Amino acid sequence: MTRPGAQLALSILVGAMLTVEQLVTAGVPLSRFEALVNKRSEPADETLGLYDDQDKVVKLTVGNFNETVLEQNHGSLVEFYNTYCGHCRRFAPTYKELAQQLHAWHDVVIVSAIDCAAEENNGICRTYEVMGYPTLRYMPPGFHPNDQQYGHKIESQKPEEIRNLLAGLVAAENQTVNNTLWPNFTPVIDAEVSLFEGVNSQRQFVALIHEPENSTLAIQTALFLLQWPVVQVRRFNEAAVAAKYKLDTSKDVIALVDRKGVAKTLLPTAPTSEVYSKTIETALTALNFAPRLELLAADDHQQQASTTAKSGALNDIIKEVRRNKHLIYQADLEMAIRTILHNEVPKVNEIGGERLLALQRFLTVLQRYNPLGTNGRQLVSKLKDYVVQFNQQLPGKSFEQELQRLEAKLAPIYSATHFVGCIGSSPHLRGYSCSLWTLFHFMSVQAAKNEAAQDPLEVLQAMHGYIKNFFGCTDCSEHFQAMASRRKIWNVTSKDEAVLWLWEAHNEVNQRLAGDATEDPQFLKVQFPSASSCAQCRRNATTTSTASKSNADITWNKDAVLSFLKNIHNPEFVSRYGVQREELLHETLDTMRQKRQIANVFSDMDMRMGMFLYAFCIIMMVVAFKLFAFKGGYRKKPYGHDMLGKV
Ligand SMILES: Cc1cc2nc3c(=O)[nH]c(=O)nc-3n(C[C@H](O)[C@H](O)[C@H](O)COP(=O)(O)OP(=O)(O)OC[C@H]3O[C@@H](n4cnc5c(N)ncnc54)[C@H](O)[C@@H]3O)c2cc1C
Ligand SMILES: *[C@@H]1O[C@H](CO)[C@@H](O)[C@H](O)[C@H]1NC(C)=O
Ligand SMILES: *[C@@H]1O[C@H](CO)[C@@H](O)[C@H](O)[C@H]1NC(C)=O
Ligand SMILES: *[C@@H]1O[C@H](CO)[C@@H](O)[C@H](O)[C@H]1NC(C)=O
Ligand SMILES: *[C@@H]1O[C@H](CO)[C@@H](O)[C@H](O)[C@H]1NC(C)=O
Ligand SMILES: *[C@@H]1O[C@H](CO)[C@@H](O)[C@H](O)[C@H]1NC(C)=O
Ligand SMILES: *[C@@H]1O[C@H](CO)[C@@H](O)[C@H](O)[C@H]1NC(C)=O
Repeated sequence: MTRPGAQLALSILVGAMLTVEQLVTAGVPLSRFEALVNKRSEPADETLGLYDDQDKVVKLTVGNFNETVLEQNHGSLVEFYNTYCGHCRRFAPTYKELAQQLHAWHDVVIVSAIDCAAEENNGICRTYEVMGYPTLRYMPPGFHPNDQQYGHKIESQKPEEIRNLLAGLVAAENQTVNNTLWPNFTPVIDAEVSLFEGVNSQRQFVALIHEPENSTLAIQTALFLLQWPVVQVRRFNEAAVAAKYKLDTSKDVIALVDRKGVAKTLLPTAPTSEVYSKTIETALTALNFAPRLELLAADDHQQQASTTAKSGALNDIIKEVRRNKHLIYQADLEMAIRTILHNEVPKVNEIGGERLLALQRFLTVLQRYNPLGTNGRQLVSKLKDYVVQFNQQLPGKSFEQELQRLEAKLAPIYSATHFVGCIGSSPHLRGYSCSLWTLFHFMSVQAAKNEAAQDPLEVLQAMHGYIKNFFGCTDCSEHFQAMASRRKIWNVTSKDEAVLWLWEAHNEVNQRLAGDATEDPQFLKVQFPSASSCAQCRRNATTTSTASKSNADITWNKDAVLSFLKNIHNPEFVSRYGVQREELLHETLDTMRQKRQIANVFSDMDMRMGMFLYAFCIIMMVVAFKLFAFKGGYRKKPYGHDMLGKV
């Protein structure tokens, strides 16, 4: 019986005859990383977010959201995002650039972002009813959230459009804002009224800019010139105004009018607000005027130092994981569950209807195939009991409170606080979405091994419902639903087929994302399993040199793939490398061991070892029997049995 997985099992046995107990601990080498993370075992890593101190994006958290966004004398552009959402990652460079460009506007409108993947921010993302990620909203000055008003949604992700929409929203501000730097956005309509009436005496000039209908050219120029107290930008669209200052509005012209009413004509080279503002700045500089001085933000050297120390430790894990590419790690399974319970589910304001059903289904399946330790099993079971009581609406907040109550009661729950197999070579790569795949593969395999399970769709249905209703990566969720119906998820008729369905679907995603900006250069998206992990899985794997990324090039041996998947997801082979509280897991393994079919687990090596012991015992029995029989003392329980019992 040479199963394709046997080779893998043997390689994990590190070439020695290890018992199962030894095998499990053998997968857990302690490293420098352990020592480092042990110091701070709970709670889980705060996510690092997509923006750092070098960026001009204002980082919002629960700690500064109200004081930065609510009832301010400036507006706020807020991006609600999830660190792990691929689309958010692809959008991040654009948003950073936008923040950089619009930094000059920050006295009037700030560019900010909040990471909804950080658990501490749950309450805010829930209150603001964020349904997709990333979501951009504009909160005007004086903003206060209420049932009808959670900011003005900005539907574009193109920087030019965002800028344009934002400028329009800022200029539409109707109430008088208590902000002396707020530009006067009212268009000049009456050519006869003095431009300087009621204007602060600092302002030596008014720059008159013709603004065509639906354009924000002058608004944006005014915002770019906030640092120049000497000039006020005014927009106009009236022919009479153009006539008075002799401006040919068919060309790009600016009238720089001084307090005596003398107009100087400036000729910008292109009709963009950057060029317009630069043109005005150049003219003012030539007249010996200067902008206000900016306060420089103090550098945070300390933070940089600690980041460097940490990245050294991360490199150790990356090395380890790259050496054992096909291992499944306990830490990732736990991090997935933790993120689901702590972050994704509580963020939904009202869990009702289909969503509630999806949550109930998911928790039922998780309870059945739960990789957590004893306390974690109790937690999920009690949480499921709580959730199934509801049949209408379950507020996300109530779920969160119940979760916190149960965790406080049952603590400690989680043995891991970091991703391990799903670690990224940079903090913004891999992580949660990787662990979510891992968790569902794991559960699909456990279901296939569970003889009591009747419904072949149990895990796939739970996954589909979860991804559709809770997964915070909005474009992933949409892709997945489309793929599920194209690949006829509901036609899967056996549990083994379900394991393979998920494998094939995941490979389709891998193929689509190979070479994408979200790909981790240290963990390339290849068709899984790779030829080096499982040679038997590919029928024509001999041509490995042509590192084929395309599924079309590979003829799979599905029986071998199925065995391989069952093997790597075997709870006994799940690696505990990188967990901090291994003691929480021992009982779990014992429970799993009672349930599993022993023959599936032992490698050929173990079998030979077992036969040897068996033969040895028989010999001993014979010896014992002869000994006692010869002496005439017949006993009902010869010692041989006791010895067998100990094997
Ligand atoms: C349901 C779902 C849909 C997604 N859709 C998108 C999307 O549309 N766009 C987008 O940008 N991102 C999407 N993602 C995220 C994306 O798939 C990856 O999770 C992310 O890019 C991180 O990739 P990774 O390299 O860590 O490996 P992942 O693809 O996340 O894989 C995780 C681990 O699973 C194993 N594995 C890989 N392939 C297979 C397989 N075929 N069968 C079994 N095990 C496998 C490997 O050990 C791997 O390390 C989606 C995620 C999920 C969970
Ligand atoms: C922030 O403001 C909201 C709405 O007024 C309020 O409900 C919440 O308690 C405030 N949060 C903090 C941390 O002050
Ligand atoms: C500004 O307020 C006035 C009166 O309240 C209203 O008629 C007008 O539509 C408002 N304009 C904008 C742009 O909101
Ligand atoms: C306007 O802001 C200043 C300080 O920024 C504050 O002292 C003043 O009370 C505010 N006025 C109003 C009417 O809110
Ligand atoms: C300006 O926008 C409005 C509403 O979108 C539209 O009806 C109008 O035609 C536009 N005007 C021009 C000159 O594009
Ligand atoms: C899937 O199932 C539906 C109904 O059970 C059936 O009508 C359809 O033909 C099936 N499709 C495939 C490809 O098996
Ligand atoms: C593998 O076999 C398939 C079908 O026989 C063929 O189309 C494909 O080109 C082969 N791939 C390689 C890498 O040999």
